[in-house]
Amino acid sequence: MATNGHTNGNGHTNGHNSNGHANGNGHTALAEPPHYALLKEKIVILKQERQAVILAHNYQEGAIQDVADFVGDSLGLARKAQATDAKVILFCGVHFMAETAAMLCPEKTVLIPDLAAGCSLADMIIPEQIKTWRAKHPDGVVVCYVNTSAAVKAECDYCVTSTNGVKVIEHIPADKEILFVPDYYLGSYLKAKTKRKIHLWKGYCPAHAAILPEQVDRLREQHAEAKFLMHPECGCTTKQMHLADEVLSTEGMVQYINRSPAKEFIIATENGLLHRLRTQHPEKQFYPASEHASCHHMQRNTLEKAFMSLVRMEHVVTVDPAIAERALIPIQRMLDIA
Ligand code: 13P
Repeated sequence: MATNGHTNGNGHTNGHNSNGHANGNGHTALAEPPHYALLKEKIVILKQERQAVILAHNYQEGAIQDVADFVGDSLGLARKAQATDAKVILFCGVHFMAETAAMLCPEKTVLIPDLAAGCSLADMIIPEQIKTWRAKHPDGVVVCYVNTSAAVKAECDYCVTSTNGVKVIEHIPADKEILFVPDYYLGSYLKAKTKRKIHLWKGYCPAHAAILPEQVDRLREQHAEAKFLMHPECGCTTKQMHLADEVLSTEGMVQYINRSPAKEFIIATENGLLHRLRTQHPEKQFYPASEHASCHHMQRNTLEKAFMSLVRMEHVVTVDPAIAERALIPIQRMLDIA
């Protein structure tokens, strides 16, 4: 188990501060409830009994990241799910991520701590809307963000994550027009980067929408030396996109910070990522672009629910095989490209 500065199986150093003392980067870590230490020990034992692996998204609460075998972004998690030989995957993330793992690993049992951990962005498009849109652009290629249901993916040609979107779009023949769903801001970013004809669906992530340009301006004035890192789900059409030092996925931010000599960073994404950043780099300062950038769906998963998932072997995530067969086509195309 990863506690108090020990390194877990992924090479992440998890320096969570169970006493609530200030850590090296000047932030006071919230004290974890006293029973968490015991819960973490029980989870490690249960994980072995169940032959399970715990995969956690970068936005999950710190305690879950601490017990995970792998913490990463949506692309990294999909690849880890595919590669593991564990019988059970406890997927600590949101439903579309667990669905992707279930489709990629039909012989494994995929569990999610809370079945209601959905994604507001993914809910902004349904399969019928894709069919109608496609009918208006019969030669269009439909590209979906991974933040979509399996049923939506089944109607699409290519899937992308925020890590590989540019590469996937560049792979599509240049004369094709592209219909991009559901995130307007990631789509705008891909359009600007690739200069392709991309029609945009007007979906958005509420957690990223909470990051306001005025707040970012203020932070940049206060911390003139800080690097400004922005997730492409942020409002890229605002002037911040051009001011960002880098536009990166969550894992892209982690890697950038690992390499960077800079000491201060303004982080424009969901604030769950800060746990991993502060744990790995206690010597650096991280300023959230907004205190309100938090995803209530991600937070539905708690350490208690992760524990109960392994005790009761619930909640099993499955996808109708007929849908999975079609949804795997855009997913596999993406994995083959990048
Ligand atoms: P990443 O792929 O950068 O982890 O982002 C996933 C996501 O769901 C953001 O809302």
